[in-house]
Amino acid sequence: MRYLITTALAYTNGPLHLGHVRSTYIPADILYKYLKLKGEEVIHIGGTDNHGVPILLRAEKEKKNPEEIVEFYHKAIKEDLDSLNIGFDAFGKTHSEIHIKTAQEFFLKLLENGYIYEKEIEQFYCESCKKFLPDRYVEGICPYCGGEARGDHCESCGRHLEPFELKEPYCVLCGGKPVIKKTKHYFFKLSALKKELEEYIKNADEMPEHVKNLALNWIKELKDWDVSRDISWGVPIPNSNQVMYVWLEAPIGYISFTKMLGDIWKKYWFDKDTKIYHFIGKDITVHHAVFWPGMLIAHGSYNLPTAVVSGGYLTLEGKKMSTSKNWVIWIKDFVKEFEPDYLRYYLIMAAPLFKDCDFSFDDFKAKINNELINIIGNFTHRVLTFTYRKFKKIPIVNNLEKEDKEFLNYIDNKIKEYDKLIREFKFRDALVSVLHIAIEGNSYFQKMEPWNIKDEERLKQILYTCCRAVKTISYLLYPYMPKKSEGLLNIMNEKLDLELRGNKLNKPKIIFKKIDDEKIEKMKNNLYKNIKKDEEEIMNQITIDDLAKIELKVGKIINAEDIPKSKKLLKVIVDLGEEKRQIVAGIKGYYSPEELIGKKVIVVTNLKPAKLCGVLSEGMILAAEDENTVSLLTVDKDVKEGSKVR
Ligand code: MSP
Ligand code: ZN
Repeated sequence: MRYLITTALAYTNGPLHLGHVRSTYIPADILYKYLKLKGEEVIHIGGTDNHGVPILLRAEKEKKNPEEIVEFYHKAIKEDLDSLNIGFDAFGKTHSEIHIKTAQEFFLKLLENGYIYEKEIEQFYCESCKKFLPDRYVEGICPYCGGEARGDHCESCGRHLEPFELKEPYCVLCGGKPVIKKTKHYFFKLSALKKELEEYIKNADEMPEHVKNLALNWIKELKDWDVSRDISWGVPIPNSNQVMYVWLEAPIGYISFTKMLGDIWKKYWFDKDTKIYHFIGKDITVHHAVFWPGMLIAHGSYNLPTAVVSGGYLTLEGKKMSTSKNWVIWIKDFVKEFEPDYLRYYLIMAAPLFKDCDFSFDDFKAKINNELINIIGNFTHRVLTFTYRKFKKIPIVNNLEKEDKEFLNYIDNKIKEYDKLIREFKFRDALVSVLHIAIEGNSYFQKMEPWNIKDEERLKQILYTCCRAVKTISYLLYPYMPKKSEGLLNIMNEKLDLELRGNKLNKPKIIFKKIDDEKIEKMKNNLYKNIKKDEEEIMNQITIDDLAKIELKVGKIINAEDIPKSKKLLKVIVDLGEEKRQIVAGIKGYYSPEELIGKKVIVVTNLKPAKLCGVLSEGMILAAEDENTVSLLTVDKDVKEGSKVR
């Protein structure tokens, strides 16, 4: 059997955070490392997703080329993955020659096979930008909750929207009001594939149950898919001025990037004895379990995915992650403080892959310090230091006692269990099997009391048995915690396999170090600071009712005099239409009394009267101020005295 493992192509509009690696990259890398370890023919293909409107919008906002944004985050994302020791055979970019060519060929093949057709649709168009506006380019008011909404989604109530539903739509580029205009789009005939897709999903034995259910549900009501966009950033559709919808071309990246390996790419995509596993997060399950297989079936020659491994979502300290609110932990910040292997361990251990999962700093510390270190750290260290003290090398023996054999038997069963579980994507359960070897090892060690054994042969038997356990743990831990595994093997002078060679031991050092309270506190403070800022901002917000309390009117200054006692103040008489008022204003030095007369200004009319420098002031005149000057607020057109300001 041959295995092709892929991971979702991350969008190049930001670096990676804990969520990305929890659902997608760490689980994939564990299976990849394990299958490699078993000598299987396996590759891991990944890369970045460079097209799509969010990247374009980001570039437009930052006044940069989309290429620059893509380059920057492609590099950053790869560095994040490297820092966690996630291995790839190829790591590509969708904004690359090989991908654009592959995607265009794919498109033409769909066209040739009759799965793509053109249809006229209506779309928002901005007259001043001379552009059709994809959903995300239009914002307005949500028809359901009255909140601010994007063309495809309302942030306030979370509803999916169709752009024409928006009230008061405007173009995000220029603020202008868009018009509805006709345009021709390409459609993918997904609806014609209902039967094939149903059959495929039903027969996909390795497809996780939750993915099957979701796909079968979706297949019930298949609509054709609008796969072209009137923007300039993307894979150009041959003989057209449109580009492909990003979700049509991005998965083709799995094929394009396999091509980076040369001719062997064909084995993975055409030979039937290949299994294809797509690792993704649950938000993009439909794309991988329905749309993508649909495309592959319509194309006709490629292998279909064996399984779509769709991981649950990660929340942070019990709350949904949000990059805009800074409620997020970036990989690069995390690995500055903690060992990458600890993150790999924790994110697997915190919940089964198909369940949602929460990252909390306290739980992270507890799982590492109390579970990993107490169980695996303790057992491996105990055995290695004791053996080192007694023999300086791993003893090899020929005969064993019954209890030794029993323990070794237990280990063998755990190895088999682990193998089965990991191949079923039960990464947490497989890791628990490793913990069990250490738990059993600890009690074996305790029961044997090697420190009381005088017979050297017996002592060798016991320590040999223990070292077999440590070796097995190091081996099975490798896919999960490659650095820790390496550390243990270094002490034993051993290779990454299940043999025990009886080599000299290196002086054991502590491989599993405790996590510092201080670092945990520091990270927590940094994170919660963002929320406090957020909360303060919300506290400082006022409602429309608060604002309505302030009564503002346009007034005309009809007289102004100096207040000789004061350095700052002038006395002004303002005509408010129905009444005249005396107001003391702090504008001396910036305006002379003469130039004030006749000006129309904005007056707060319901301010409690007060005496300033002994002069009565019945209101306040609004002015703006910077380090150089003071400037009165005035009206742009001539409106009547007494007009309300709101
Ligand atoms: N570009 C698409 C994938 C295209 S694949 C042909 C994409 N990119 S992404 O950068 O938004 O996400 C990358 C991976 O991280 C996806 O598998 C996504 O599901 C996953 N996750 C993003 N946020 C996540 C969490 N908060 N929790 C778990 N997984 C998360 O989607
Ligand atoms: Zn516009």
